[in-house]
Amino acid sequence: MSVITKATRAWLTRSFKPFHFTNTYENKLDYKDTRNLGLYVHIPFCRTLCEFCPYCKVQYNKNLVDTYIEALLKEIDMVGSTVGIEKKEVTSLYFGGGTPALIANEIKYIIQQINKYFTVTEGIGLELHPCDVTEEKLTVLKEAGVTKISIGIQSFQIEYLKLLGRGELNYTNMFKALSKVNFETVSMDFIFGLPGQTIEILKRDIETAFNNGANHFAIYPFIDFTFTDRKFIKMTNKEKKGLLYEIVDYCYEQGYVRDSIWTFSKHGSSKYSSMTRENFLGFGCSATTLLEDQFKINTFDLYEYQKRINSGNLPTALKLNFSRRQRMIYYLFWTSYTMRVNSTDFKTFFGESLEQNYGFELWLARILGFVKKENNQYVMTTKGSYYYYYYENFYTLSYIDKMWHLMKNEPFPKELIIK
Ligand SMILES: C[S@@+](CC[C@H](N)C(=O)[O-])C[C@H]1O[C@@H](n2cnc3c(N)ncnc32)[C@H](O)[C@@H]1O
Ligand code: SF4
Repeated sequence: MSVITKATRAWLTRSFKPFHFTNTYENKLDYKDTRNLGLYVHIPFCRTLCEFCPYCKVQYNKNLVDTYIEALLKEIDMVGSTVGIEKKEVTSLYFGGGTPALIANEIKYIIQQINKYFTVTEGIGLELHPCDVTEEKLTVLKEAGVTKISIGIQSFQIEYLKLLGRGELNYTNMFKALSKVNFETVSMDFIFGLPGQTIEILKRDIETAFNNGANHFAIYPFIDFTFTDRKFIKMTNKEKKGLLYEIVDYCYEQGYVRDSIWTFSKHGSSKYSSMTRENFLGFGCSATTLLEDQFKINTFDLYEYQKRINSGNLPTALKLNFSRRQRMIYYLFWTSYTMRVNSTDFKTFFGESLEQNYGFELWLARILGFVKKENNQYVMTTKGSYYYYYYENFYTLSYIDKMWHLMKNEPFPKELIIK
């Protein structure tokens, strides 16, 4: 598997240089002139921990929440206060987890802290577990400034909830709450590729979502991380591919708009995407930051996170200084999530032409039917999106899995080399 990612990396970066992450970093992040910057805040608390889930999360505990938020506000202060007198304009702010809605009452303090240094122009998103979707909680979140919500449904079918280790849930109250409190985007997350799942079952899930308050959904292929647990037999890649084509065909027939590889919106206007920014600043344990010249990831350990911050230092665990080609690959990989890469945006970002750097690859992708050219954009086809998924799966298992596995075991590793 790693042969594929290794060969692709060497080909696309025109170098055998691996991604070398080290524990050396500066306390000051240079993002003042960075364009198209998004913000991400990680809230690692959950009621119960799902075995299939790879994210950095811990069981909810009120004392731990209080000390975590105290440290989080300090981290925002440390990073934000370097921006100068004028506030920095950022596109979006997303709260992910874990289950950020568990601390709904505290979200407003975090937003106030962000607002001291940043102006968010495209709204605030936040993740919820279905159990958090009550009229009371939604009202608190709306009053705090949240404009988009994403609910982790996974499946409306009891057999799949059981398979994923979640018990039966009563959705009547959730649907009622959604009809009472409105948000610009109400997105619901589903997982596909579970045993025996058919397009008929997924269609029912999608329609249940759209008939009960959602205007957007994400449908992720099940990813089997090495450090998570799975108590069922995985669907084969061939079956997953067939299902993905059926999902896409169905959504197009219904007139739903595909706004990224895994997301569709009912009318095309609503959006929920925390990962499609050119650059982003991440706050909280496990949060990542991607800037023009570097990538960094915070420690996964909650106690070490607080300790570092209380000692006046950023909680960075690993940092990568990009070579120019490596940054180009990161840029192309993340912007491809939106199913389109814009030549003008690439030129603005790098000061170099996309075609001059990757002309051969783009020509090949067009010949193979992976992309179509529309004016100055390369738009991914359904076939292209399947191969992107295939490659992303390799990438997730050989890069993200390796990094997260290490980070879950060591608060501050010395280095990580991904070949
Ligand atoms: C942080 S969780 C969502 C919020 C909330 N904690 C919940 O579970 O309802 C983000 C999403 O990642 C997806 N996810 C988690 N583990 C996954 C896996 N192993 N493969 C694919 N998707 C996964 C789920 O759809 C989940 O809703
Ligand atoms: S899926 Fe959601 S609730 Fe379950 S452990 Fe992951 S973040 Fe927590």
